[in-house]
Amino acid sequence: MARPVNVTVTGAAGQIGYALLFRIASGQLLGKDTPVRLRLLEITPALKAAEGTAMELADCAFPLLDGIDITDDAKTAFDGVNVALLVGARPRTKGMERGDLLAANGGIFKPQGEAINAGAAEDVRVLVVGNPANTNALIAQSHAPDVPAERFTAMTRLDHNRALSQLATKLGVSVSEITKMTIWGNHSATQYPDLFHAQVGGKTAAEAVNDQEWLAGNFIPTVAKRGAAIIEARGASSAASAANAAIDHIYDWVNGTPEGDWTSMAVPSDGSYGVPEGLISSFPVVCKDGKYEIVQGLEIDEFSRGLIDASVRELAEERDAVRELGLI
Ligand code: NAI
Repeated sequence: MARPVNVTVTGAAGQIGYALLFRIASGQLLGKDTPVRLRLLEITPALKAAEGTAMELADCAFPLLDGIDITDDAKTAFDGVNVALLVGARPRTKGMERGDLLAANGGIFKPQGEAINAGAAEDVRVLVVGNPANTNALIAQSHAPDVPAERFTAMTRLDHNRALSQLATKLGVSVSEITKMTIWGNHSATQYPDLFHAQVGGKTAAEAVNDQEWLAGNFIPTVAKRGAAIIEARGASSAASAANAAIDHIYDWVNGTPEGDWTSMAVPSDGSYGVPEGLISSFPVVCKDGKYEIVQGLEIDEFSRGLIDASVRELAEERDAVRELGLI
């Protein structure tokens, strides 16, 4: 059997961690031929809970699970890491200003970036899930100068999957009939789910829907505010769907997107589509041979341009704020 892949999950004792770890250990992250060694990083008070999860993982007797290490030390957690899932983050609490939130997350993602820089394997791939995900990824990346910048990504796959589901319901088709969905920009309420390039039944999704009022007034806000709607209904934030999206993101990055399709990932901009270089922004990407490439040459109409620009402006503001705080 192949050598085990080291997968580090931060925030392992949290809700997403609980929904994620069992799927990784069962082979859904990397495929059924790849054994995994799990490293769980938690803050000290949550180590005991992480141990409880590890006991349950052991009780599943997963054939692909080669071992579990639990630690509160980032250096140990990221030593030799191949796939890093940065889930643990500081949530916004009542009365917290954006600056406080960014500073608190800087205190988490700066040392984690440094630890990745110090110890990660050559092929390391990083996915930041913890919010504000794009800017947390930027912080971690800026403290890992020896790791190729493009290995730092943030998650917009949940938004992508939400967009697929909303569109499929509207058109009465299966999600498998829709290709080329794109989320642009920030993983926040400003994100732009784009139906002008998505394809369904030989048309663009916008043509198939043929209802600009629904597209602008219903579809976009429903996708962008779905997280808040889940909290309202469930009394807790999305966890299983977020874990599922993290699995999809890494699986496609490693194994490739299907022929004729693409996916959405927040990746460091190379200047494509007028997104300032270096911002970690969501784009349509094709994955192949373990690498991703931003899809080039799409025509962006005026409606889409305005929404992409607004989300990218927000990302630039977040970058400027963390720069001012000395976090990047
Ligand atoms: P949670 O609060 O249940 O778990 C977070 C865990 O992170 C806790 O166990 C906490 O002890 C741990 N943690 C905090 N600081 C840490 C550190 N420095 N090192 C290691 N672990 C640390 O939260 P949940 O529901 O699991 O969500 C995690 C994050 O994912 C949140 O920031 C949430 O906003 C974000 N999220 C992102 C989504 C996306 O689409 N990008 C979707 C849903 C959630």
